[in-house]
Amino acid sequence: MLIRALLPFLALAATTLAATFHKGHDLSSVAMMETGQGAIWHAASGTESTIESILASGGMTTVRLRLWVSSTGQYNLASTLSLAKRFAAAGSDILLDFHFSDTWADPSHQAIPAGWPTDLSSLSMTLRSYVADTLTAFHSAGVDLALVALGNEITAGMLWPAGEISNNDFSGVATLWAAARNGVRDAVSAGVTAPQVMIHLDNGWNSATQSWWYKGVFGTGKSSLNSLASTYGKAVMVAETDWPVECPDVTLSESIMVNAKGQRTWVKDIISVLEDVPSGLGQGVFYWEPAFINNTAPGSGCEDNILFDVDWSNWPETKVTARSSVQMYK
Ligand SMILES: *[C@@H]1O[C@H](CO)[C@@H](O)[C@H](O)[C@H]1NC(C)=O
Repeated sequence: MLIRALLPFLALAATTLAATFHKGHDLSSVAMMETGQGAIWHAASGTESTIESILASGGMTTVRLRLWVSSTGQYNLASTLSLAKRFAAAGSDILLDFHFSDTWADPSHQAIPAGWPTDLSSLSMTLRSYVADTLTAFHSAGVDLALVALGNEITAGMLWPAGEISNNDFSGVATLWAAARNGVRDAVSAGVTAPQVMIHLDNGWNSATQSWWYKGVFGTGKSSLNSLASTYGKAVMVAETDWPVECPDVTLSESIMVNAKGQRTWVKDIISVLEDVPSGLGQGVFYWEPAFINNTAPGSGCEDNILFDVDWSNWPETKVTARSSVQMYK
């Protein structure tokens, strides 16, 4: 399985590195769970509560939220902004995860949004203003983002075909990533608080893949990217991870218990690995969608990776009760 369990990314932070260690959860689907699935959250004690309060008591400092480009449908600007306001009001830092697509962007899908140009030069300009406008929208709504990821799982490039890496040609993705990075600069020049800026690659465990990618991109001579690399003296975070409570069909690579206790052990083990990264550059971990109650398995082959037990018997109200693993960051 560890495809999903080990989906770290390298986060290149172009701004001053934060001293904070981000103990995060990706909570992109929480509002959908409440409106579409009737989720009523309960603490492990059984007391009704809010998800932000349950996870904050478990030590969460930061919430990761994905953003798709289309203004209609899931994970759009309006819904993501409203979730960001809600979690920021509850005291969390926010990581905005740009997909630069109208749907899931991952190693096999990086579709250009509808209505965007497809040639590299016009696409770069559109991307730059989209990033600037988006950051401005968050700022105007009172949310200063702690972190932004420019693209999601872009190991094979982004915004295909213009930004697809083929035959080791990184020029498209390097141009586009630099344009997105300039969009962040434009927003900051216009008064937006500077976030840390990240690159998110999948298969972070594979150091050959990671160095192929960074060598390829920096090799294109884009100065905005070259300036990021002092041979990767940059912060790294594990952007997505999960551990199952149920996984009969997969041989796991770690001998960690398949239950809520194991979920805590797994994340604590990741934190100790990150604490051992030299110079304090291991700076965060994000558990992926711990409350995705109608989609508990995605990407892993394991049946259930979430941090809540779900009782569907009282539909359309769904009683969702925290497992002991919500305490993983304590
Ligand atoms: C889960 O619920 C949401 C909201 O009701 C819905 O949009 C989504 O399609 C559902 N996902 C699955 C895998 O059933």
